[in-house]
Amino acid sequence: MTSRPLTGLTALVTAGPTCEPIDPVRFITNRSSGRQGYAIAQALADAGARVTLISGPVTLPAPDMVTLIRVQTAEDMLTAVTAHLPCDIAVCVAAVGDFRAAHPATQKIKREQLGPEGALTLHLVPNPDILKTISVPSPARPRLVIGFAAETQNVEDNAAHKRLKKGCDWMVANKVSEHEGFEQENNTVTLITPEQTDRWNTQSKIDVARELTRRIAAHFKKEEATS
Ligand code: C5P
Repeated sequence: MTSRPLTGLTALVTAGPTCEPIDPVRFITNRSSGRQGYAIAQALADAGARVTLISGPVTLPAPDMVTLIRVQTAEDMLTAVTAHLPCDIAVCVAAVGDFRAAHPATQKIKREQLGPEGALTLHLVPNPDILKTISVPSPARPRLVIGFAAETQNVEDNAAHKRLKKGCDWMVANKVSEHEGFEQENNTVTLITPEQTDRWNTQSKIDVARELTRRIAAHFKKEEATS
């Protein structure tokens, strides 16, 4: 395999958390550091792909030779993603928040506005599912759509089920616990494709990204050979 096997292909990567406002100073977010998504964007670019990275708020430096688009909310992320379709490869690594406040307050919510028991009721509505949206068969669908499934239990079963539910081609399953997954240097993942379930050894997120890139390159090489 050449050192830049993805030359001529376009890739889209989502990474990091999303950040949903409650009022001008408060928001709903999650613990995603963005490290795995940024490493994948870098590895794809190193392999010659033209990469757009659509990232929620993280503290990481922009990868080299990658177009970085910063967004805050899931809706912004979906808009940015659809604006970059069609593409050849999409890897949805972002930890997109499932819910957002239906009506973010335009001014800071004050204690005095709270209910009789001092309670604040937030009305939440579901966010769009970016991975599921782009996986729907259409002329704009990326040729290879890859999702990530962070799970705390029954990791492979849940991820295999999620692959079918979302309609993506491959799912990368990873266990999240105190010592694995979010905010960690290493990752233990299983790659689930229609053909196989492949457990990888625990390795750095950079090595996971390189291995995934090798698999992607092999996939396109095979596709080319059979077309
Ligand atoms: O959160 P969940 O486990 O469903 O995430 C699985 C996959 O779906 C991830 O690849 C994530 O980036 C993607 N996702 C998405 N939009 C959402 C929720 C998840 O793209 N609203």
